[in-house]
Amino acid sequence: MPTERLVLPEQGTAWSDIKSELTAIAENDFDWRAGRLGVYVFDPGEDVRAVAKDAYGMFMSENGLGPAAFPSLRRMEDEVVGFGLSLLNAPEDACGDMSSGGTESILLAVKTCRDFWRAAGKADKTEIVAAYSAHPAFDKAAQYLGLSVTRVPVADDFTADVAGIAAAVSDRTMMIVGSAPCFPFGVIDDIEALSALAESHDIWLHVDACVGGYFAPFARMNGVNLPPFDFALPGVRSMSADLHKYGYAAKGASTVFYRSAALREHQMFRFGDWPTGEMATPTIAGTRPGGAIAAAWAVMRYLGCAGYREKVRTVIETREKYERGLEAIGGFRFWGQHQLGLLAFGSDDFDIFAVAEGMRDRGWMSANLRQPKGMHLMLSPGHADAVENYLSDMTDTVAEVRSGARVAVAGGGSRYS
Ligand SMILES: Cc1ncc(COP(=O)(O)O)c(C=O)c1O
Repeated sequence: MPTERLVLPEQGTAWSDIKSELTAIAENDFDWRAGRLGVYVFDPGEDVRAVAKDAYGMFMSENGLGPAAFPSLRRMEDEVVGFGLSLLNAPEDACGDMSSGGTESILLAVKTCRDFWRAAGKADKTEIVAAYSAHPAFDKAAQYLGLSVTRVPVADDFTADVAGIAAAVSDRTMMIVGSAPCFPFGVIDDIEALSALAESHDIWLHVDACVGGYFAPFARMNGVNLPPFDFALPGVRSMSADLHKYGYAAKGASTVFYRSAALREHQMFRFGDWPTGEMATPTIAGTRPGGAIAAAWAVMRYLGCAGYREKVRTVIETREKYERGLEAIGGFRFWGQHQLGLLAFGSDDFDIFAVAEGMRDRGWMSANLRQPKGMHLMLSPGHADAVENYLSDMTDTVAEVRSGARVAVAGGGSRYS
């Protein structure tokens, strides 16, 4: 919060002045365009950004709340959902919706699962069992919806410990979670084993593919040997996959998918006891940004499978360069077997938080990990040209930390406030 509350000026300001002010306001932001931010932004390159921006602008005023008024948005949303379902090997009867982001998609899946069990007369099923590495969106959903989450430590390879999850499952368990991949370590859980567990115990398995949903299918097309993680596995009842991450759409775009229309029915909100009659909405928002729908549709059409495969190839090659460079500097240890665009690493030799702070002072920001202590990079094509500068600054920073010239002062861990 600013220290002083401002009052809206009486007179407006010329756009040219405002535009300069906007540029000035952003002066201290990390320079994601130069690949200096390893989190928050997925940069596919200028041409794709221009497509998203133009398409967003064209539909900026249209409202996804009114598909009858805007058949354009309905068509684009249906097509985006269709693209996602086919990429994730969903069966014929599967369906889904666009939402505002990964957190909303997860919240919707949790609500849908809860109401599915309620409708089946099992309202006492109120617990989610998830690995320690699962995204906090599940806890947010649980807090909002009056549910609980039991977290289970990860296995030695940083994936979900399926035996631990099985041991934690009780009669109260409504959902188990697998991540493809998880945010902290970037590794894909053993979804095949989780699917078998879900089937044998008749529990809902949600696969959080917010990061991998629009990356892993293309990596696989490129020949990367990935384990099965999607609807091809019969125990998977719902999935989340973010368009505003590796789908390269404008922010405010994700997808949530269900194995069948009957499951998705529990997601619906219907209410008619007010003067305007029935309101039926599938997602949390009322008004929904037409721009986010149009931008996602346009980017998907612009890139096509070939375009996404090319982006994936660049990201994986870039990740390998970072890995080789960090190995060459020495003293780093990677957390888990990275196969996609994320990498996480710590050190037994020096304080990794001191390194993170040193890099931050040199203009590089990424997420930190607390347990185990580490740094984290979520890479996109925009990082390809930054590798050399990053590694050069990393070499200097590590030398500084090793010599004792730099110690951590901030305490580490990522903050979101
Ligand atoms: C694995 C995973 N799930 C869910 C989310 C939540 O997505 P959002 O920030 O779009 O709400 C994230 C965000 O980084 C994520 O990495």
